[in-house]
Amino acid sequence: MKRISKIIACLAIVALAATSALAAEGGNPKKGKYLYKKNCKVCHVAGAAGGALTPLSKTQRQWDRFFEKDGHKAAPEAIKSFSPQDLKDIQQFLYDHAADSDQPETCG
Ligand code: HEC
Repeated sequence: MKRISKIIACLAIVALAATSALAAEGGNPKKGKYLYKKNCKVCHVAGAAGGALTPLSKTQRQWDRFFEKDGHKAAPEAIKSFSPQDLKDIQQFLYDHAADSDQPETCG
């Protein structure tokens, strides 16, 4: 039951995100979410190499810093295959649902 309500909450958030024009930095958050789930979560769930990570793990400013300055230096090869636009989309998704955003989201 708990899981079902979480799924419903996630769907509601996705629906909200889709209807509000959020594209702050030119990234596509919908695509970013897909890319994040497909490529980042492999290593970023509890027990995996990168540890648990969700949009809520950081504030908007921290996400921007991560993408602009850090560049995943802990494991640079892990994000090498992404195009600049892919990374922008992922950044947008994480930023739009960061801890201090209007729509914080844990179900990344
Ligand atoms: C091949 C595995 C792998 C993939 C794929 C991967 N990461 Fe990581 N990531 C790591 C490892 C390992 C660390 C270092 C964890 C540590 O130091 O405890 C890390 C660290 C991070 C950190 C810093 C964590 C912190 O607490 O500040 C962030 C943010 C991050 N990754 C985001 C991403 C994003 C976004 C993607 C997808 C674009 C991604 N990672 C893909 C393995 C991966």
